[in-house]
Amino acid sequence: MSTIRVAVAGAAGRMGQTVCDAVAGADDMELVARVDPALDTTLAQALSERPDVLVDFTVPTTAVANTREAVAAGVHVVIGTTGFDPGELSDLSDAKANIFIAPNFAIGAVLMMQFAAAAARHMRKAEIIELHHDSKVDAPSGTAARTASLMSDELGDVPIHSVRLPGLVAHQEVIFGDVGQTLTIRHDSTDRTSFMPGVLLAIRRVSALAESPTVGLEQLL
Ligand SMILES: NC(=O)c1ccc[n+]([C@@H]2O[C@H](COP(=O)([O-])OP(=O)(O)OC[C@H]3O[C@@H](n4cnc5c(N)ncnc54)[C@H](O)[C@@H]3O)[C@@H](O)[C@H]2O)c1
Repeated sequence: MSTIRVAVAGAAGRMGQTVCDAVAGADDMELVARVDPALDTTLAQALSERPDVLVDFTVPTTAVANTREAVAAGVHVVIGTTGFDPGELSDLSDAKANIFIAPNFAIGAVLMMQFAAAAARHMRKAEIIELHHDSKVDAPSGTAARTASLMSDELGDVPIHSVRLPGLVAHQEVIFGDVGQTLTIRHDSTDRTSFMPGVLLAIRRVSALAESPTVGLEQLL
């Protein structure tokens, strides 16, 4: 089994640090670079380490710029950063490296989105409440936006409410209402390790995607 060489952008951040630990602990991966202004390291330095895959958990404009630079260098990219439109990268569909984007890498959150899309076919109205730690920069969350888009064929524009409080990690409720009843579907990430199996799966699969960019962890399951 060959080792996948991985660079992480946003390596000093909350998610980036957790990804670095997960990659370092994976038998089939080698962590070759940690990119972050807070570590005084640049993407150009990381690309000179010849990674196979760049994982990006930064901020929206940086994620788009990093992806363009990495793909131009033939490096596949796994993007966890939220708050940008994946359509911004659609012109890279014929590039020499692949792009995988997931607004949420937690399996429970993917199931929550699928259950919500199924319930949207049967219930009359729905609203989404997403709750995150108070350092999160974007609102609504990428997960909430993705959930709403999966429900939009049935229910049109689904309202999203964003809560930002210390003590929270990443949580979402989808509340459906119909005559005389409500249905609530809720997912809670209580720790950032919840995202790591999904991130490692994406790192293993990004080089062999049938289509690029591919959006959503469900495409790999
Ligand atoms: N897809 C998912 O499952 C998932 C889960 C949680 C968070 N997120 C998203 O991940 C992103 C990061 O979240 P976080 O909580 O780790 O944020 P954070 O603020 O803790 O970390 C972001 C890091 O990016 C670094 N950064 C900024 N510009 C950079 C650049 N040019 N190159 C390299 N690094 C740069 C910052 O210095 C910081 O260390 C957010 O967009 C968040 O919404 C996604």
